[in-house]
Formats: sequence, structure tokens, C-alpha cells
Amino acid sequence: MTTRPSQRPTRPHFSSGPCAKRPGWEARGLEGALVGRSHRAAPAKARIQEVSTRSRAILGIPDDWRLGLVPGSDTGALEMALWSLLGARGVDLLAWESFGSGWVTDVVKQLEIKDHRVLEADYGRLPDLEGVDFNRDVVFTWNGTTSGVRVPNGDWIAADRAGLTICDATSAAFAMDLDWDKLDAVTWSWQKALGGEAAHGMLALSPRAVERLESHAPEWPMPKIFRLTKSGKLNEGIFEGSTINTPSMLCVEDAIDGLCWAESVGGLDGLMARSQANLDIVATWVEASSWVDFLAENPATRSSTSICLHIVDEWATGRDSQEIASKTKALAKLLDAEGIAFDIGSYRDAPPGLRLWGGATVEASDLEALLPWLDWAWSEVRSKD
Ligand SMILES: Cc1ncc(COP(=O)(O)O)c(C=O)c1O
Repeated sequence: MTTRPSQRPTRPHFSSGPCAKRPGWEARGLEGALVGRSHRAAPAKARIQEVSTRSRAILGIPDDWRLGLVPGSDTGALEMALWSLLGARGVDLLAWESFGSGWVTDVVKQLEIKDHRVLEADYGRLPDLEGVDFNRDVVFTWNGTTSGVRVPNGDWIAADRAGLTICDATSAAFAMDLDWDKLDAVTWSWQKALGGEAAHGMLALSPRAVERLESHAPEWPMPKIFRLTKSGKLNEGIFEGSTINTPSMLCVEDAIDGLCWAESVGGLDGLMARSQANLDIVATWVEASSWVDFLAENPATRSSTSICLHIVDEWATGRDSQEIASKTKALAKLLDAEGIAFDIGSYRDAPPGLRLWGGATVEASDLEALLPWLDWAWSEVRSKD
């Protein structure tokens, strides 16, 4: 039996979304929120725009890109991009876990784009990136949140592409180096790497994406909530703080709080270093572990945010995935009940295992404190055979 550790993580928040608030966060910090005001009042619009200005500076988004706040969280932002941009040419759809697969379903079954190719891979792997045709539009997820597999960089994307690259970057933004020259539409939400509040999406568009919006009218009807153009021209207001519908000014304030914290830890470099340090701590522990391994087969594709692990204990040999899932669920439940770790079970569609969020808002010391508890909890649940 493994001895019960004595040191507890200070914050048991390891969920992959909504993710841990930034260290030191307090609800009191939101006292200046413009609640009870119209979001179209000048100071409110300025506050909304501040989210974009600070995000743009931290992420290094080129000056000629548009960045705006949109409804419906990351899903809303990405759907908006798919519905507004696709249909002008064929599309390559990349999927290696459930979120990417969801975008495939939307494009194939909802938009019914006939000229599509699906490049897929199982949990733990990337599809054949060499096989992507950049004369076509390309839809992909920078970091597959449910498998913990990310693209290593943007080198595989053609600089001189004719199609557009549409990238769901919700668990990569503010944690990984997005290659803006290789991207055309990029989306994320607030509740991931900076620990903001949910329901608000960010949509970044390259000049080429704007050109597409203004030259291509999709053949399907466009709900108001997705409409990025007015009389064939980009609705610039959306990218200047005039949102399509009403955002929460409390959440806006919280997003600014997260961005200011990001600046205080050194901007993107600081955020990436914190996330990488979290991954390194877990990797050292995994190397010495006899019961757990990364789901990502290639270390270059290991996510530093959604760190997904699966069970390799000899106990698991010959067992079916339901049996393994019941053990990993019991482990997650035990640590939840102990107040040691919340929400660390793998995603419902993913292979059974654990998922630890390693974004910058998680303190390395908390992950360090958690790891012996994982060993303890596994030995507890494993022995109950
Ligand atoms: C890669 C990816 N895409 C989309 C989503 C859905 O995000 P939201 O709930 O912000 O719409 C998530 C949520 O975890 C995600 O990780």
C-alpha cells in the first residue's frame, strides 16, 4: 500500500474548463465592474474593447487582424467562423479527439459541404499533417483538449496557402505559441487558460478571412447571432466593442483581471513558461510511474494545458475499458471527496484515465502536491478488486 500523503494542494482546482482562477483571485477584485449599465454606453464599450486590446498585445496578434467578443463561448465563435467562411472551396477537416470530431459533424452534416475530406486519428495521435491540402480551407484544433494532443507548431501549414485555416485554439491560447502568419480565423473562450468566466467567445480574423467574408455569401441562412457582415461588408463594430448582443459586464471585468495578471507574470512568455513547468512536473512523475502514462504518444505533441493520462498498470492488462473507467472514476471521486483534486476524470468520450489542467493559472506547487495523492488514490482503488 502507498502511504497517505500529508501535504495537500493549496487549491484543488485542476479542471480543464472552467479552469482555475488566477492565483490570488478574489470576487472583490470585480467591484469596479460596470454592472447595471448598458453595454453600449461609452465606458462599457471601452471596457469590452480593453479585453481585445490587452489580448492582442499579449498574444502578439498582428495589427491588421480583427479581434472581437462574440456570443456562445468558443463554440459560438468557431461556429460563426465555419458558417461565415466555408463553402467557397473544398475543406480539409482534421480531427483527433471529440471537439475536432464535433466540427467535422457540423461541416458535413449541418452545412453539408460536399467537397470535404476528413483527416482523422485516434486518441493519442495526430492525423497525417503532411496530407493536408492548403489549396482548400482547413479546420483544426490547436490543442485537442480531450486527448491532450496538440500540434507541435505551425510549420506544417503552408505560408502561401490559397485556402483559409480556421483554428479552434481555446485550450491553446495564452499557453502555447500560436503561429499567426499561418492562421486565418482563431477562436477561444475566457474560461480556459486565464481562468475567466464562461459563455463569451473571442474571434480573431486575418485580412484574408475578412476578404473571404466580403467576397463570399454562404448559400445557407445566417442566424443573427452569427452575422459578421452587413450589406456584404464586414460589420466592423463587432471588432470595436459593439457586440452582436449583450455580454456580461461582470465577466468582462473578470476577463480584464485575468489579462492584467497575465501581463504581471510576463505576458505570453511567462504564461507558457508556467504551463510548461506544470507539464514538466507531471512528465517527471509519469516517467517514474508504473501505472500511468501520457495518452499523447509523441512527446512533441504533449499538451501542457490538458494533460491526459491513461492507465498502464499491469492490473489493466486484459481488462475492458469499462472496468478501467470504473477505477479511474473511483479515483477521481476519492480525491474529490478528500478535497484534494476536483474534476480530474478524463472527458466522457475519451479513453478512461485522468486529465489534469496544467495552464498558467495552476500553481506548480499544487501539481507537485497532487501527484503523491494520485499514487495513493490509485493504490486505494486498485486494491478494491
Ligand atoms: C478544443 C475545444 N473546443 C471547444 C470547446 C467548447 O468550448 P466552449 O464551452 O467554450 O464553447 C472546448 C471546451 O473544453 C474545447 O476544449
